[in-house]
Amino acid sequence: MTAPVQIVIFGASGDLTAQKLVPALASLARKGEPEQGFVLVGMARRAQTDAQFREGLAALQPAAGQEPFAALAPRIHYFAGDVQDLEDIRALGERLDALPGGAEAGRLFYFSLMPSLFGPAVSNLAKAGLLDQGAGGPWRRVIVEKPFGRDLDTARALNQTLLASLREEQIYRIDHYLGKETVQNLFAFRFNNTIFEPVWNRRHVELVQITVAETVGVDPGRAAYYDGSGALNDMMQNHMLQILAMVAMEPPSSLDPEEVRGQKVSVLKSLRFRDDPGHSVRARYAAGAMAGRAVPGYLEEGVPAGSSTETFVAVRAEIENWRWSGVPFLLRHGKRLPRRFTEVKVQFRTPPILLADLPEGEPAGPVCQVRPNILTLSIQPREAMSLSFSVKEPGPGMTMVPAELAFDYRDRFGESTTPAYERLLLDAILGDPTLFLRADEVEASWRFADTVHRAWAGPAAPELLEYPAGSWGPEAAGGLFHGCEGAWSRG
Ligand code: BG6
Repeated sequence: MTAPVQIVIFGASGDLTAQKLVPALASLARKGEPEQGFVLVGMARRAQTDAQFREGLAALQPAAGQEPFAALAPRIHYFAGDVQDLEDIRALGERLDALPGGAEAGRLFYFSLMPSLFGPAVSNLAKAGLLDQGAGGPWRRVIVEKPFGRDLDTARALNQTLLASLREEQIYRIDHYLGKETVQNLFAFRFNNTIFEPVWNRRHVELVQITVAETVGVDPGRAAYYDGSGALNDMMQNHMLQILAMVAMEPPSSLDPEEVRGQKVSVLKSLRFRDDPGHSVRARYAAGAMAGRAVPGYLEEGVPAGSSTETFVAVRAEIENWRWSGVPFLLRHGKRLPRRFTEVKVQFRTPPILLADLPEGEPAGPVCQVRPNILTLSIQPREAMSLSFSVKEPGPGMTMVPAELAFDYRDRFGESTTPAYERLLLDAILGDPTLFLRADEVEASWRFADTVHRAWAGPAAPELLEYPAGSWGPEAAGGLFHGCEGAWSRG
């Protein structure tokens, strides 16, 4: 039997450990994954015993998580130390050698750290010999949390720092959206059904819109991070571009991770933002009401005075390649919107002439009244897909009414899909990097985000607008749709 895996979380006192990583590991343990078992070591600076660390984590688990946590608890250990201190990292190595699996264990180091500590952590691990992965020896891997850089230059520098101590195949850059079942389904659905492929291109698709709408505001505990980041960097540069890549990529020739990631990189490299007025909107929420409850504006969330950070971003982009040239890809993300939903809508072209009665009261004119076929891929919280079309209403006229074909994960597969972090942790343990970002992928995403940032710093920069919390964002966002292209989804 192979030695149990050793998972080390750096920054183990943070929210991510208690709220996402520990529940994910508890669920894996319960399912008997991975086969060889694992132990978990949390490392942070505060001195505490294993028992205290476990108690602290237990207190943060929801009622439903208590039982799985209790089963995981004996496998959890704690190590007090500073990743910037080489002696501490050496001592960590000795501790790992003494735990089940010892030096023979495959080791996964999870960087749930402030980004400024990624570099020191990796270089100290390397100096302590903890990243050496000899031929035939046990594996050594690192998961790097977001944010991976603040722009292209810092992302490149971070890649260089990591690659000075690790080989690319040892680096797992995480984007938790890729762990979502419905995001993986974008790929699976496209490449395992032939009926959509002939129409999945500029000849038949008029527009694609992608929304990640959140009801939450900025948690005061994250205000400093968020204010230095903003909606564009926090959600669009990473999660939304990953969704876009899944929707727009070319079919890979196999499921080989490098084939899949190579196609994603290729489409991300073709993504363009035109620095023209009317191609982006940025805004921040003002005080308003959510579900009847008054909520403060962004500037009252403990952010630095004089902040000009956006909590809403909408962008009209294009992909310059044979498949997509000329098709607008409209991306929108905002906090404090009325409803939480993540969704992709692929809108097909309308018939060139109207062969139906105009809807009651509609003036004759451009055929904006003709409803396009729309394929809606709902990623969360509803996990579903639907295809809309028009049918003739029974009666003497030619009146068309909307209808749809619909599929819902819950109806078909029951309660819930596997949480993102569980899937991704297991993949990293098993050595499958498909759902993690490669160096060139992160850089291609930043290259795009940087063009938007540059436009926002330039002479024609769009004004930072305000929208009341609980509204659908600034009206100007609707202006990113041209002519009869439609409107933003409300989920
Ligand atoms: C994180 C962002 O990456 O994703 C948060 O930093 C955001 O600001 C979160 O709220 C959303 O994730 P999910 O899985 O809840 O959609």
